[in-house]
Amino acid sequence: MNAVMQDGFGRQIDYLRMSVTDRCDFRCVYCMAKNMTFLPRQQVLTLEELQRLATLFVGLGVRKIRLTGGEPLIRPGIVDLCRNIAALPGLRELVMTSNGSQLGRLARPLAEAGVKRMNISLDSLDAQKFRAITRNGDLDQVLDGIEAARSAGFERVKLNCVVMKGRNFDEVLGLVQYAIRQRIDISFIEEMPLGDVGRSRGEAFCSSDEVRTLIASRHRLLDSAENSGGPARYVRLERHPDTRIGFISPNSHNFCGSCNRVRMTVEGTLLLCLGQDDALDLRGLLRRYLLDDQPLIDAVHKALHAKPLRHDFNPGGEVQVVRFMNMSGG
Ligand code: 5AD
Ligand code: SF4
Repeated sequence: MNAVMQDGFGRQIDYLRMSVTDRCDFRCVYCMAKNMTFLPRQQVLTLEELQRLATLFVGLGVRKIRLTGGEPLIRPGIVDLCRNIAALPGLRELVMTSNGSQLGRLARPLAEAGVKRMNISLDSLDAQKFRAITRNGDLDQVLDGIEAARSAGFERVKLNCVVMKGRNFDEVLGLVQYAIRQRIDISFIEEMPLGDVGRSRGEAFCSSDEVRTLIASRHRLLDSAENSGGPARYVRLERHPDTRIGFISPNSHNFCGSCNRVRMTVEGTLLLCLGQDDALDLRGLLRRYLLDDQPLIDAVHKALHAKPLRHDFNPGGEVQVVRFMNMSGG
């Protein structure tokens, strides 16, 4: 039960991000184009196939699984899937990234099913700007979802905010204030150039250093060596011990050297790096070998060996990866 997966550079891979749907009730400007076509049903893994893959990867040494989307909570059967995955022996934690829209209804059932931590996207506290960024989203519904998550019994609730010039950079301090009031952590994320979303990303790009400087103009920041097993670098606020501020900087601080993860799309494609095209089609194998996992295991080990050393995003430049984020699993 103590298997470990290593890639060709000796990095230990123990974290799997699984997308359970490419669909979403929002159309965030950094994630999707305005008009998206979604996958036909037969290309999407069934709940049983998702469960089989989760089981297989935990057997191979995965200790943490994050369910993502699109929006994971619009997949029918999600709570039962969570309960089944959370119960896998050897898994340390099942966590989720959500846009919050369904959490008013689902936070408690998910916590009871064994989801340990919940990351919720929140890019604005202004209803109109929120609507402009998400194209469909209703701010109040998401704020209710955050409240529901806070009282549902998760070990941790965290906010994620993608910062863009001209859209929500002026809301950073307000969002920090909100996180302080809620006594939760918040991470600020640099926009990644994934998929052609119909505008130049260079114009909206905002580096983590700029966000940090802005927060430091209002708060005394204490550097922190804390790490939650992800690419975020954290600072603490001297006067508000219950809130940490994270910075996720895929463009300005390359963190690939400590990469511990792979991603599974909802089509069953194992993505070895968010910023590269290297991938393994597991759906074909899943459907060909219904009762025998060994061909899948062999293929995964082989693919891991070829996991790229690093992504190489360039925010002002061309789109390098044509996948949209909703296809990559957050
Ligand atoms: N760049 C950075 N983060 C992104 N997300 C989606 N698309 C992008 C992108 N292009 C992240 C956001 C969102 C989560 C679901 O995925 O943090 O909250
Ligand atoms: Fe949906 Fe999240 Fe993409 Fe926004 S970022 S469209 S909430 S999947």
